[in-house]
This record gives sequence, C-alpha cells and structure tokens, in this order.
Amino acid sequence: MAYDVARIRSGFPSLESGWAQFDGPGGTQTPRAVGEAVASVLTGPLSNRGTIGVSEERAEAAVHGFRLAMADFANAHPRGIVQGRSATQLTYDFSRHLPKGWGPGDEVIVTSLDHDSNVRPWVQAAERVGATVRWAEFDPATGELPVEAVTSLLGDRTRLVAVTGASNLIGTMPDVAAIASAAHAVGALVWVDGVHFSAHELPDLDALGADFFTCSPYKFLGPHCGVLVSRPELLETITPDKLLPATDVVPERFEFGTLPYELLAGVTAAVDVLAGLAASGPDRDDDAVTDAAASRRARLQASYAALHEHESRLLARLEAALAELPGVTVHSRAARRTPTLLLTFAGHEASVVTEQLAAGQVLAPSSNFYALEASRRLGLGDDGGLRVGLAPYTDDADIDRLVAGLRATLD
Ligand SMILES: Cc1ncc(COP(=O)(O)O)c(C=O)c1O
Repeated sequence: MAYDVARIRSGFPSLESGWAQFDGPGGTQTPRAVGEAVASVLTGPLSNRGTIGVSEERAEAAVHGFRLAMADFANAHPRGIVQGRSATQLTYDFSRHLPKGWGPGDEVIVTSLDHDSNVRPWVQAAERVGATVRWAEFDPATGELPVEAVTSLLGDRTRLVAVTGASNLIGTMPDVAAIASAAHAVGALVWVDGVHFSAHELPDLDALGADFFTCSPYKFLGPHCGVLVSRPELLETITPDKLLPATDVVPERFEFGTLPYELLAGVTAAVDVLAGLAASGPDRDDDAVTDAAASRRARLQASYAALHEHESRLLARLEAALAELPGVTVHSRAARRTPTLLLTFAGHEASVVTEQLAAGQVLAPSSNFYALEASRRLGLGDDGGLRVGLAPYTDDADIDRLVAGLRATLD
C-alpha cells in the first residue's frame, strides 16, 4: 500500500515551522482538518445537547459523531466510549469507581514498564482500601515484559491487572491478549493503557482482551483530551458518584459536566484523517479498501498497515545510522515495539544533546516522560534519556537531519 508522506505533510500547517518533530509520543502535530473541525463546531451555532434548534442539534451531532468515530477506531460499541479531559483523569476517575467492593486481601497488579498514570492511581486506590499491590517487572536488558512476569502474580483475589499496550519510554508492546486471557481466567479485570499504543497500532478491544482501554487523541493527530473504551455491559455494572440531576445513562454517567463539543468534533476529524492516510490520490489505482465508500474501520486498517510499513522503513534507516555513531546506547530492544527509541550517550547528558539538536530545529526531548519506574529500572534514575518518536508525518529528510545533528554533537 502506497504511503504518500508528502501529501500527508501538506495537511499539517505546523510543519511549515521548519522543525523536525520527533516528539510525537508526547503529542503529535495537528492536521488542518482537525483544527477546522474544532473551530467550525465552536464558532457555529452551539448550545448544550438537545433537539431544539440547530444549536442544540449540532452539540448532539458532535457527541454522536465522536462516539461512532471512536467505536470504529477501537472496534468497540459507541455506548462503550467515555470522554474525559485526559487518560490520566479517566484512570483516576475509575480508580475511585472500581474499588468500591475491594478490601484487605484483594490484589491489584501494576507493572514497572507503565507510564505513572497507569500505576499511581491503582497504588493509591489499593492503599485507600487496604488491598495489596503486586509489581510485574520488565527485563531492563531486553526491554521485554514477559507474559509470565504478570501471570505468575495472578491469584483468586486479583481484582485488576493494569498493563500498558506499549511503553511510551522504550516502545515495548507486551502480549496484552495473553495477559488478559490469564487474568480473566481468575476473574480479574484488565485495564490497558493504550495511549502510546494507539499512535502506532489500531486498537481492537476484543482482540486485546481489554476490559478498559485508555487513549489520548492528542497522541494520534487529535485535540487534547482522553478517551476510555469499554463494553457497555461492563460499564452498566459500575456506579460512579455523580450529581443528582445528572443522567444515569451509560456512557454519559461517567462524563462529569458539560462535554467539550468542539474537541469531540476534533477527535472525529482526527479519526477521519487517520482513515485517509492510505487514501488513493486522484491518479492512483490502489486497493478498493482505500475507497471512500469502504467502511471507516476498513480504511483505518489499511491506513495503519501503510503507516506501519512507512514507520518500519524509517526506523530501520535510523537504527542503522545510530549503530554507526559513537557512544550511543539504544534502550528500545523488545521484539515487538513501536518506532520509539530511547537513547543515552557516553560522555554527553541527554538533555544537552536535546539542546544541541534544537539549535538545528530538531525536537527530540529528554525526560523520563512519566515512565518513572521504567526509567529507574533501566538504570537511568529519574533522568530517562532522549526520546525519538516517529509519527505519520515523519519523512526521510527528518531522519537525515536528526542523524546529522547527532553526528555533529557526538563525533
Ligand atoms: C503511555 C502513556 N500513558 C498515559 C499518558 C498520559 O496521557 P494523558 O496526558 O492523556 O493523561 C501518556 C502521556 O504521555 C502516555 O504516553
């Protein structure tokens, strides 16, 4: 499947800044179509949701469109889509709803590979109710989180397993489906942090075996908010504390206050942009699946397949070039991983390398990126390293500039 990166880049006004953006895992650039969708909903007639007049109907349509788009994106039911301010906020919210029946003797499993937003809320929730936290450790030498590292901790009192779909620090993608199936066998729920995963892999709630899956549209070309994906039947069993006049209907009962209609429209637009990444140009004769008439899910699948190919080729080029540079350690080593590399440098602080790259308008930040336990386990303390993340708009010229910048710094 052809991937026309020049065509894709032309849809991103921000790339005219001239910067090579390798900070996608922190948040991607935003296509014009997404900005226009946000502006259009916000500046057109807009009221609270309802059926009276165009302004209420447009709010209603924004919500409806968002749930359908995210359901296509995650292969889920529209009533299983919950909007929130961020993945962190949604995880914190549910870490208060879910443990209502937990108590001493109950257990939750978290991993040292995860972003802190899928660790601390569960650790603190366990502390509140007197439950026990069990830590699944990844192998810093290989970057792998073996299935047994998690499943060996399961027991009949395990209430929840919180595991990442992909590490935002080193890219590792654990075998979530295998972990979930073992967790379900003992009756535990599975909470998957899909925030980094979704930028590179098209989620499929059923295939992952996730009971809950979080993602953040601003990591995949959308606006700044978070989304929780679950099954409506499961959500029906969870009762959040909520305002008396607020609806008790799922999924709305988990969305506190007025929804940000303009952001919802932006998320829908982002999903549509993603679905068009592999679209045929006017002079192309590609697969029928890229046809506008194909279902959005099918177009998303074709797009992610093309994105995969594009990112794998760029990653192979980058890794080959890094191998030629002196004193570079690449901490991203797992067999299944996203195109996200964590680097440290002999004799050079990562943060200084970041600054030197920035002088050439190349952005590759250094941090632990809130994957605090992972950074420590890799022996990097709280500093982490320099992270290079590929995104749908990354091209060969970006890679060349990054490699030239690193060479100038390290030689
Ligand atoms: C893997 C991962 N999980 C969770 C988060 C937190 O996402 P949010 O900013 O939507 O709370 C991030 C953000 O960087 C992330 O990379």
